[in-house]
Amino acid sequence: MTASLADQISRLRDAAGPDIVPGRLLAAWGRTNFPSGAGEIPVLTQPEWSGLYFLLENAALEPDVVKPLPSVEGHTRDMRPDGPVPIAVASFRVAVPSEGLAGSVHAAAADGHELRLAAEDLEERRFFAATGVLFDQWQRTPPAHRGRDVTFVLDRALYLTNPGGAWPDRVEASLDDDLTWQEVQFGEPFGPRRAVGDSVEISIRCRYGDDVRTARFAVAVSDDPAPPPPDDTWRLRASETPARGRAWVVRAPGRTEIVNPVIMVEGFPGNRSYQYTYEVLNQTGMVDALHDNGYDLVIVGLDDGMRPIEHNTGVLVDCIKQARDRTTRPLVVGGLSMGGLISRYALAKMESTGQTHGTRIYLSIDAPHRGTYTSLGVQWFVHSLRPVAPALRGFERLLNAASNQQLLLLWLDDDGKAAPSKLRDAFRAELEKLGYPRQPRRLAVSCGRGDGVGGAEAGARTLEWESELVAITINTLPGNADGVIAEGSWLRSRLAPLEAPPGQPPWETAPGGQNTYNGEVSQVAANLGVGKVTHDQDRTCGVPTVSALDLDQSPLDPVPSAAGPFDAYTCSATNVQHLELTEEVSDWVVKELGLPPAPTPREYARSLEPWNPYTFDPYEPAFLADPYATYARFREHDPHFFVPRTASRWFFHYDACEQILNDRTRFLKNDPDGSELTPGPVGILRAFGSTVFTSDPPRHTDLRDVLEPAFRTQIARAEANAAERAQKIIDKVSVRGHMELIADYAVPVPAEIVFDVLGIPDDQVVRSGLLQWAGLIIAAADRTLSLPMRFQAGTAKMALQTYLQGLLHRYEQEAPQGLIGALAQARGDLRPEDVYTTCVELVIAGYMSSTWLVASAMRILIDQKQLGALRADRSKIKPALDEFLRLEPPVQVIDRFAAQDMELCGVPLRTGDKVTAVTASANRDARFTDPDALRLDRANAGEHLSFGDGIHRCIGEPLARRVVPAMLDRLLDLGEPVIDGLPQWQTNPYLRGMTNLPLRFSCR
Ligand code: HEM
Repeated sequence: MTASLADQISRLRDAAGPDIVPGRLLAAWGRTNFPSGAGEIPVLTQPEWSGLYFLLENAALEPDVVKPLPSVEGHTRDMRPDGPVPIAVASFRVAVPSEGLAGSVHAAAADGHELRLAAEDLEERRFFAATGVLFDQWQRTPPAHRGRDVTFVLDRALYLTNPGGAWPDRVEASLDDDLTWQEVQFGEPFGPRRAVGDSVEISIRCRYGDDVRTARFAVAVSDDPAPPPPDDTWRLRASETPARGRAWVVRAPGRTEIVNPVIMVEGFPGNRSYQYTYEVLNQTGMVDALHDNGYDLVIVGLDDGMRPIEHNTGVLVDCIKQARDRTTRPLVVGGLSMGGLISRYALAKMESTGQTHGTRIYLSIDAPHRGTYTSLGVQWFVHSLRPVAPALRGFERLLNAASNQQLLLLWLDDDGKAAPSKLRDAFRAELEKLGYPRQPRRLAVSCGRGDGVGGAEAGARTLEWESELVAITINTLPGNADGVIAEGSWLRSRLAPLEAPPGQPPWETAPGGQNTYNGEVSQVAANLGVGKVTHDQDRTCGVPTVSALDLDQSPLDPVPSAAGPFDAYTCSATNVQHLELTEEVSDWVVKELGLPPAPTPREYARSLEPWNPYTFDPYEPAFLADPYATYARFREHDPHFFVPRTASRWFFHYDACEQILNDRTRFLKNDPDGSELTPGPVGILRAFGSTVFTSDPPRHTDLRDVLEPAFRTQIARAEANAAERAQKIIDKVSVRGHMELIADYAVPVPAEIVFDVLGIPDDQVVRSGLLQWAGLIIAAADRTLSLPMRFQAGTAKMALQTYLQGLLHRYEQEAPQGLIGALAQARGDLRPEDVYTTCVELVIAGYMSSTWLVASAMRILIDQKQLGALRADRSKIKPALDEFLRLEPPVQVIDRFAAQDMELCGVPLRTGDKVTAVTASANRDARFTDPDALRLDRANAGEHLSFGDGIHRCIGEPLARRVVPAMLDRLLDLGEPVIDGLPQWQTNPYLRGMTNLPLRFSCR
């Protein structure tokens, strides 16, 4: 009986062909007493009109008969709430079952015979109703026109009728209570009418020949001003996905261009109006306060916030770039709800790919870092009733949107199973991998309480809906006594009940930002006009406090005063609506943002005031030419700072650098999380296996134990050899009178010595070939070269490795020479490959640093006119070496990874975080008096960190200490040098050295 009744009703709808239902609208169940435009005319508010329109959508026999309500409302998105109010007129023919039809349906169901529908079984009704359509506004139901004098406009896109339905011959409006009519035209504003109380009423009349239909409606008004129109609008495009958006710019008063932007991204489902998001942000005057403090507001609107969240991060990245094209000052970037995740993802992604975002503060406002909860009962309602109530498709689209699946803690899939969606699992994994942006200070706001006190009741009844047709009950988690969240029947056929998934905390009860979905679903049930609807718990938790603050704890526990990934956060005093910003919360945000830092041009010169670290790019040529002024300012203002281009936090003070280098248990060469190989030329080189340079204990200790003593014995003659080789070149130059110091002297001498030490045969063809390969390997890190060029490093490393492997093999058999020979004969526990890969490292590391040190020392001596002092007393050369190393270290910065969660200089570090010891900055720290000055006899110059420190301290130090002074000594014999050209700096901030230093010598 039950199933056959349902079957008869669906046959009734199927049988309703165009001959029987000409308007293609059949209101087969629920409320059918529509306003007809004749007789008694009700005055409708916008929500009442929408409720009636919802019935029309459900009555449509095909989807395109009635334009969906969201697209009707969406049409007015960009219209201002203080402009003419657009009028929608819905004029439809609708068929409803006649009195007798219900009986026939029951009888047919009882007998089991097929119902034959005839035209007389249906009655034609007219639906005629109008409304002003104001776009959705924050916390205003109905949305209100701003200002008491209201003008109106008829909009063709909002004249809604059956396909092919008649258009009126004439439309008239009455703006007064005496019903004086005036003709009005589509597209031409009319009015104004002055509001009485908090609304204004008007009447509209359409004439179709002799048929006249009248509608009355009220538009809410408010004295609150509309947000100011944006000063500028930028189109935004993601570069790698089709996602698009817009940025609405509201500058601080009196500005013609943005200076200190606060960029805020809207939340799910996107596509809201500019006014909506502005009013969310300014609900307790936050925007006004930020404007007063000199900030400009940039609202990022998403054309489609339902696509995967990561797609829309590209929209924000475009906005950040456009903002940075207009201002050099640091940004504040954040978002509301899902916008908080978009901004977190975008900033972290930019950092992980070495892009500069220039963001000083990241602001997350009630963003669901650990997911959102949408009542499972609500999801079940939409899922179960959607087949019979097509107007629920709007809700269904929202629930099933890709981004919503990524956010929902529990999502009801097509089979009615409640679990996290696969899209969520993948998104969480990605988010976890990226972590948080590390450069900006991180601030978070929760709209829920922080003391663990929730709002709604656990296991409470939220909806009870009873009638002949329908019986539905919905409960909050963990469901009723039997663990059932929702159950019921429709047309007496049972709907599959939904049981509470095991192990879930009572999310609706948790403290957090509240949503009103339970209330909205009850309203839907009431609008359908079938039976009695009882509802409760209309507002329940949507974004738990622990999610907004990303805390790994029970949602029902109080939150600690400091924990989680944020530097500071605040909670609401009560569990308010999601995105409701109380006065205290707004004040907190304004206080935390503080006043914007003062401006600085992009130049790095010390004289330029004031300081802006957010534009710091270590690859900038101006910085590479003189990094020391910038280091000094970092030491003064930001002694530890996250640098996106290197994805690491740089530490500029001596103490911090010393700790990083010496604490072998807390800081490692390799990421303890076993990071994947970085793609690109430098990553390729890492694939060659670890060496003494790149390994951690215990392997590092094994390598070093064998290598270091062998190395020391091999360098005994290095000083004399260096002097001899240097002298040969000096002899030629003294005749010529000029040289290019790097190519003619500073490369060949140390390279030859390293080759001698290693035991490479003294064959110029072989040795210059090895130098070519070493040069190509060093060039892998040079970002100014083309990729194909940089990739040659891999080939070169292979070649060098194979050559040294062959040499090692040869020395195992016959006439061993140098370090390779010594290791071939007695390599302890090392395998052959350990020896030759380490020798590759020595070829590469063994000459370039000495090259650069010789050149830098010469340049300083020339600039500071100190050559004479050394010439006068050559015994000063060796001690002066430390001062040269202190002032111009060839290795400027050294990376390590945190081995554990810890603090360094008050900065929390997580396992695997990359840190950078800026040793070149440490060398000019306050422990050195007058640190920028050259003092050849400085007592503590040897405390520099230019050879590193701890277990990785340079193996080649004793060699460098022999070779470099010998080379400088020989140079002093030439005439007085002048720099004869423009020296260039190499382009890798890790290393410092000139690529050329042309010198001319005058006779002494
Ligand atoms: C002025 C010349 C030199 C300077 C400024 C210099 C600088 C450095 C620095 C700063 C480190 C430490 C890297 C770290 O902690 O990550 C280092 C390590 C190393 N250097 Fe040098 N170096 C120079 C010359 C040489 C020479 C001539 C050789 C070999 C012939 C050499 C071989 C090595 C090796 C093998 C390591 C790795 C040590 C380990 O990790 O245990 N260096 N060097």
